Amino acid sequence: MVTSLENPLRVGLQQDRIPEPQILTIFGASGDLTHRKLIPAIYQMKLERKLPPELTIVGVARRDWSHDYFREHSYKGIQEFGGGIVSEDIWNDFAKGLFYCSGDIDNPSSYHKLKAFLGELDEQRGTRGNRVFYLSVAPRFFAEATQQLGTAGMLTDPAKQRLVIEKPFGHDLSSAQVLNRVVQQVCSEEQVYRIDHYLGKETVQNLLVFRFANAIFEPLWNRQFVDHVQITVAETVGLEGRAGYYETSGALRDMVQNHLMQLFCLTAMEPPNSLDADSVRNEKVKVVQATRLADLDNIDASAVRGQYTSGWMKGQDVPSYRSEEGAPPDSTTPTYAALKLSIDNWRWKGVPFYLRTGKRMPKKVSEISIHFREVPYIMFQSAAKQVNRNVLALRIQPNEGIAMRFEVKTPGNSLRTRSVDMDFRYDAAFGQPSTDAYSRLLIDCMLGDQTLFTRGDEVEASWRVLTPLLQVWDAPAPPDAISLYEAGTWGPVEAEMLLNRDERRWRRL
Ligand code: BG6
Repeated sequence: MVTSLENPLRVGLQQDRIPEPQILTIFGASGDLTHRKLIPAIYQMKLERKLPPELTIVGVARRDWSHDYFREHSYKGIQEFGGGIVSEDIWNDFAKGLFYCSGDIDNPSSYHKLKAFLGELDEQRGTRGNRVFYLSVAPRFFAEATQQLGTAGMLTDPAKQRLVIEKPFGHDLSSAQVLNRVVQQVCSEEQVYRIDHYLGKETVQNLLVFRFANAIFEPLWNRQFVDHVQITVAETVGLEGRAGYYETSGALRDMVQNHLMQLFCLTAMEPPNSLDADSVRNEKVKVVQATRLADLDNIDASAVRGQYTSGWMKGQDVPSYRSEEGAPPDSTTPTYAALKLSIDNWRWKGVPFYLRTGKRMPKKVSEISIHFREVPYIMFQSAAKQVNRNVLALRIQPNEGIAMRFEVKTPGNSLRTRSVDMDFRYDAAFGQPSTDAYSRLLIDCMLGDQTLFTRGDEVEASWRVLTPLLQVWDAPAPPDAISLYEAGTWGPVEAEMLLNRDERRWRRL
């Protein structure tokens, strides 16, 4: 049983301040992300009194909606996907700040119309010219929308105008570089918020606190004591009707390049000098720049791709990826990826980092586990085979917490050892749900805190790590080029072999 004292560090330092009055303009207002995540997250902050009363939201999309229709649509989204309306009074106040402005991403006159409308709202709502533009549109429109905002003179003031870009940022290294150039032409890096919602998760931020607010772990956090590290992000969901997007993306672009690389960076980076945005981001960039696939001459020894077949999950038959609606019957898009990464620096040389992610796995679970080296000499002769390595597991979701696995003597006359866990659970210690990732990140952006957002050079560095793999996996291939795994299992057998070859195995979750 662990009792909580007080968390001594704050990450994304400005959480308790209320942002300045401002207008949040969401491009892609009729889309799923806005409906299911963004509006419910902003409303939740309203309920928690974290927003300025003047906060104004303008939805932009092509459809010819009225302000009232957008309000009704948002109401439904909050009821269905958020924590509910809770108070009609608070909702009515919130709804007064919701507006809709139809427009086309590629039409300059839409931006002039929007600009004039935002100016009127400034007068009406006292938002003082402060703007956040959130691109929640299909990735192929990021460059166009950014360019148009720039041309319309809506990103000229670094102190008042910010741009949020959803993932994926680019499709590979060169497209990320092109997009970065477009962004740099119209605004400065301090205005850009490349969002990765994993950085908004409480337990992801806690990684920094865990590593740098405790004296006992950091001395062990290196090649002298660590044998290897595993990072798992497993999902039970399948395609969820997103074939159009997923076919152009696959597990590597959808999850590894962003979410898993963020978990990787925070685990592997050096201590920053402070928690200001650039100190943290400098360290992240440094470690990604030192990272590569373990064997660049033999991609198959560094990575495994898989795709789910039909299977049985939670008492139901689920279809194979290839028979999901919209997926081609001969698709080779990976729904599973496992990678072995090496870091060429003093701290980690020789310590492999194994990353895996997959859809239709038996459980939804994200975890980072640090596997320590074996003891140098086993003196328990009779029980030699039972001495396992110590493991420190950081559970990102669900059951957020931290567990330390170590050996104890089993009761009785013989000297036998067994592994047990010392387990810290967030819910038991704090008794309150963690803040939604989008709420956290939106507030940080409104406050101008970039710590939990990805900088342009970091995105490029992480694409660079994956480039050799993308070159092979993107090449046209016959349907049997990809390993198959049954839905509801832990991925293809080749992924087991990736570790077995090194005399290691994936942790059972
Ligand atoms: C998104 C991916 O970024 O993250 C989805 O596009 C994935 O495919 C989702 O399901 C997972 O997020 P979470 O917060 O549910 O782990």
